[in-house]
Amino acid sequence: MRNPRDFGKPLAIGAPEPPSEIPFKPSRMIHFLDFSNEKMVAKVPDIAPTVDILLGNLEDAVPVDRKEAAREGLIRVGKEMELSETQLWARVNSLESPWVLDDLTTVVTEIGDRLEVVMIPKVEGPWDIHYVDRLLAQLEAKAGLERPLLVHAILETSLGVVNLEEIATASPRMQGMSFGPADLAASRRMKTTRVGGGHPGYRVISDPDPDDPEAPRQTAQQDPWHYSIGRMVDACTSAGILPFYGPYGDIKDVQGCETQFRAAFLLGCVGAWSLHPVQIEIAKKVFSPPVDEVLFAKKVLDAIPDGRGVHMIDGKMQDDATFKQAKVMVSLAEMLAHKDSELAEAYGFAPEPVG
Ligand code: GLV
Ligand code: MG
Repeated sequence: MRNPRDFGKPLAIGAPEPPSEIPFKPSRMIHFLDFSNEKMVAKVPDIAPTVDILLGNLEDAVPVDRKEAAREGLIRVGKEMELSETQLWARVNSLESPWVLDDLTTVVTEIGDRLEVVMIPKVEGPWDIHYVDRLLAQLEAKAGLERPLLVHAILETSLGVVNLEEIATASPRMQGMSFGPADLAASRRMKTTRVGGGHPGYRVISDPDPDDPEAPRQTAQQDPWHYSIGRMVDACTSAGILPFYGPYGDIKDVQGCETQFRAAFLLGCVGAWSLHPVQIEIAKKVFSPPVDEVLFAKKVLDAIPDGRGVHMIDGKMQDDATFKQAKVMVSLAEMLAHKDSELAEAYGFAPEPVG
């Protein structure tokens, strides 16, 4: 057991104090780029203003012979590129890999002051976070950093799902989690070859008609990820950290991607990964709350200023609980409106004063 009094103390002499709260900034999409590719590095000034989070990927999808180039490219982006309010994150290689120690050592000492979050793949339990926690503190002290780095875990092994709650609370650095359906499917021995989304074989079917047993029966695909995403959302929100849906691999299937993202949004996820520019737009559309819902939520807040009692608005019952839902919706809309003037106008917020 760890003494709770020590929870807010640095884990290395000279490291910054761990955060007491996780900031909630615009987080609708974590855009993945492989900076071993010079062309991707050159595109950063154009892409950065269009995304909330830009992530240098060092792990899967980066070929073994380009691992070091991806790390060097990320460091170049951190050192040389102006990203304004867009957050810069890194996905390092997994903890059992031969690259992760150099990934962490290099990125923290070289660009630790520019990075906000380090994404750790294939986290299996709190012990993985404890290892990263102490190592980051040592590296922060070595680099003389004043702001602590935050840690984001990918939930992509069955053991990780079993240990969700303990992972979410393993360190005050825990910023959030992403759901990784591809590795999770492999770890669980699910019989699929996809990255996220449904499967035509996973479905429900109505009973046969006793009077006409041969008649076609209604059937529909089911969501194979629902249970685990729901558990992730509970583990994260109960710990004050942020849940994200991960990748959707079928880039051409924009409708499938939008449906998967929206299911995650409605369950409580704040954003998803974008693997291609087309998915940036999908994430922006899905994870910015719908205008009609925001306008209705504003109406609820205006009508019940103290959030108490029972009221009817547009024929719908409103009470303390719906007031709180309306607050969630309006707070998110307000935060996004600061970043996006089109959204501010659509939501009916006054324009920001210039100058
Ligand atoms: C993401 O890394 C996944 O495995 O789905
Ligand atoms: Mg993975």
